[in-house]
Order: sequence, then structure tokens, then C-alpha cells
Amino acid sequence: MTASTTFNTHFKQYLETVQVKGNAVPTGLQELLVAVADTCMTLSHEVAQGALIGLLGSAGTGNVQGEVQQKLDVIANDLLIEGVKGCQSLAGLASEEMELPVAVQGTGDYLLLFDPLDGSSNIDVNVSIGTIFSVLKKQDPAAPLQTTDFLLSGRHQVAAGYVVYGPQTTMALTLGDGVVMFTLNRVTSEFVLIKESVEIAHATKEFSINMSNMRHWAEPVRRYVDECLAGVGGERDKDFNMRWIASMVADVHRVLSRGGIFMYPWDQREPHKPGKLRLMYEANPMSFLVEQAGGASTNGDQLIMDLIPTDLHERVSVMLGSKEEIERLQRYHA
Ligand code: AHG
Ligand code: MN
Ligand code: MN
Repeated sequence: MTASTTFNTHFKQYLETVQVKGNAVPTGLQELLVAVADTCMTLSHEVAQGALIGLLGSAGTGNVQGEVQQKLDVIANDLLIEGVKGCQSLAGLASEEMELPVAVQGTGDYLLLFDPLDGSSNIDVNVSIGTIFSVLKKQDPAAPLQTTDFLLSGRHQVAAGYVVYGPQTTMALTLGDGVVMFTLNRVTSEFVLIKESVEIAHATKEFSINMSNMRHWAEPVRRYVDECLAGVGGERDKDFNMRWIASMVADVHRVLSRGGIFMYPWDQREPHKPGKLRLMYEANPMSFLVEQAGGASTNGDQLIMDLIPTDLHERVSVMLGSKEEIERLQRYHA
């Protein structure tokens, strides 16, 4: 599916008319984003059918990350490639599920990166999952595509977003001038604008982390969570709430919707790895969204958006969300 499809006109019109810091969205970027949104719409319809169309369970294969692939990881990856490869504005794409980038026939210079299916452990239990995407611009449009073309810091992103397949299918999008959200109208096959100027509250009483890894955390993270757990009468003198969906896309959607912080920090289980989550497909696009919504995102030492990647599939420690909490975590790490 490409931008030539006849549905999703509301989203197309949005991209045609919105101003990004006083400028129109380049038509090539519009073409690419419409193709991504169209594909996610198809994916949403498939996800909703699950076992009815044989979508659940393991694919019996492994990906470049050494993880077992679910059927839907593979299906989503294939759908996205199929959905965007006809975009004239696209030079190449890279996916969490594939070792190497794919060059496409387009004459343009956009690069698309994606986590086709985030929250794989939640597919078979009917809990929210999603797709995360990031768009970069190739620095040397004329040269043949190489892996190193993708190794740009998050600051180079020209667009990023996710689509969460939950009770509603909702897309969050940033073009570098704030964050907007669209919800899929399943009857008319339209992503309809539901929220402009998404803002993350600077203060919060809600944190999100996999507590079962507590014994493996570094001291600053342990201190932060201990202080949250101490509640009224403790260092923070307020009671905190905890949530962990185990789909980054759904946990970050909650943070963008009602504040809070999300953490998947480095831990001692695999000390040589900087973290579990992937910089290019998960941390960078989510950090772009969070910063654009007035929040912050760090690996403890540096803002994630400032990290210069050295490997397409590199991992990173992630702490993002309400600004005051992220600043506190940065102080604890200093
Ligand atoms: P993916 O499904 O793309 O591999 O990503 C899963 C990630 C992320 O979405 C989530 O926050 C985290 O893994 C959950 O990890 P735990 O199973 O350790 O809770
Ligand atoms: Mn993921
Ligand atoms: Mn994934």
C-alpha cells in the first residue's frame, strides 16, 4: 500500500496543511508517513483478529538480536516493508528484526527505521502492543546505501511516532514541533486527530519498571525506586503508583497521556550490554516524542537524543518521562 490509497484522507489532509515551525511538511515525508500509517491500519485490523487468522504463537525463528520471533513479529515486518518500499521519497529502511538495512528503489533521501511489533510477549495474551518508527535523512543522497547512513543521533530525526494496538488504535506523531495523536476510526479507515499539543506533566506520582529485576539494578536506580516505594513519610513524602505493561509502546503511551516515568535501565544480568531496549528502533523515536511533549529522556549519563550510535542494533539504558523525575535520576547517576 502506498500514498495512492483512497482511505486515510483525514491524515493526508493533516499532513498537507500542518505547519512545522512555520514550514509545510515536505511532500516526500508526507508520502512516507501516509504509507506507514496505512500499513499500521492494516496491521491493526489483523491484530484484532488474532487466532481467527492464525496470528498467534511463535514463528520458530530467531532474529538478529537472538530473540525468538513471534509470527506477528515477522508478519508486521513484512507488511511494513511491503507498505513503504514503493515510496519514491525513501532511500532505505532498517528494522529491529533484520540484520542489515534494505535499499529501496526510491529516488529520495529518507531513511525509515522501525520496531515492527513492540511488546511481543503480550501478543498471545491480548494485551496492548504496537509499532514504533523513526525517520532520518540520508546525509549523502547520491551515494549507495550503507549501514553507516543510519548511524545518526536522535537529534537528526525528522519524524518519529508509534501506533499502539490497544482497546483503541492510536498513533502518536512528532515532526519536531510538538506531539499530536490520532485514533483509528475502524469504520471509515481514518486516523482522526484527537489531541494536539500533547504535554507531559513535569511532576508525577507514577513510575514504570520491571520490579522483578530489582536485585540486578545499579545503585542510582535502586535508590530512586526505594524512595518512591517509601511513600508519605519517606524522602519523597508522597505515595507513588506503579504500572508495567511490558510493551514499551503502551507504557510510553500512558506517560504521554497522563505523565509518569518509564525505565528499562542497565542491569547486571548481562553487564556487557548497555540495556535491553534498542537505541535506533525504540529509544530514539520515543525520546524524540517525549522531549517534544516537554519531558526528558536519559541513559543516566547523557540525554538519549545526543548519543552517537556505533551499531544499528545497539542497546541502551532508558529512563524517560516527566522532567523533574528524570532530572532527579540524572542527579543520582552523577
Ligand atoms: P520487543 O517486543 O520489540 O522485543 O520489545 C519488548 C521490550 C519492550 O517493549 C518492553 O518494555 C520490554 O521489552 C519488556 O521487557 P520484560 O519482558 O523484561 O518486562
Ligand atoms: Mn520493542
Ligand atoms: Mn519488536
